Amino acid sequence: MSDTQYIGIFDSGLGGLTVAKSIIHTMPEENILYFGDTAHVPYGTKSHKQIRELAVNDVRFLSRFPLKAVVVACNTADSVAMGTLQEQFDLPIFGVIEPASHKAARTTRNNRIGIMATSATVRSGAYEKAIHRYNENAQVFQKACPLLVPLVENGRYRKDDPVVQIVLKEYLDELTANGIDTLVLGCTHYPLLSEAVQSIVPELTVISSSEAAADALKRGMKELGLCETEGDGIQHYYVSDDAEHFEENARVFLGEDMKATAELAQI
Ligand code: DGL
Repeated sequence: MSDTQYIGIFDSGLGGLTVAKSIIHTMPEENILYFGDTAHVPYGTKSHKQIRELAVNDVRFLSRFPLKAVVVACNTADSVAMGTLQEQFDLPIFGVIEPASHKAARTTRNNRIGIMATSATVRSGAYEKAIHRYNENAQVFQKACPLLVPLVENGRYRKDDPVVQIVLKEYLDELTANGIDTLVLGCTHYPLLSEAVQSIVPELTVISSSEAAADALKRGMKELGLCETEGDGIQHYYVSDDAEHFEENARVFLGEDMKATAELAQI
């Protein structure tokens, strides 16, 4: 592996595979090293201090391999730990919040933007701060949606699922009551819910942090002269627990056609 340079991607678990999927699609020539901290998922309900410590450990693990960049493919870790990671590691580090905020700030026509995210992300106020950097007139309405990650992890994300509909409606009602025209799915698991969200509120422009992140990564890496120009990238997957079940569970996030296995990380 030593001649190969990777884009190191990490998440609290498997949700960040939605980001990896977008990156593989957008930059198929890049080599990807994914680490899912499945021993400690979820991060979204943990304290900021603990999330920072876990994020530092995640990048430490990735740094055992030759990296050209790191992607924090977890909204929660990005919202809380990005500053710490940038201080501690001498690597280009990209996130998911900045790109999605930029896109939302430019997309809204009535300056009312909704954010659905984990409790820790909402508490950090990171989306609001980032959106105001690009559009100071925007009003940002956040909603912590703690039931959504467990739902998706249990395979419940399809738009015709009555449980998904009930839970989403409850969360969306509060946001739509504020007259939002743009909604950011500010969590790695939520892109899977995007069809269900659109079936409830078809008039909203829905922005997935996972897709926005891949586009921004490509732009950022190009600027730094880090992009591969040819070849087919390879992918390696590591998890901190339960590698046996990776293949089955990862398919939910990577897509049915992506066959991937993971190794257990010795951390
Ligand atoms: N990856 C997290 C995020 O994007 C969701 C899962 C968790 O809470 O760890 O916020």
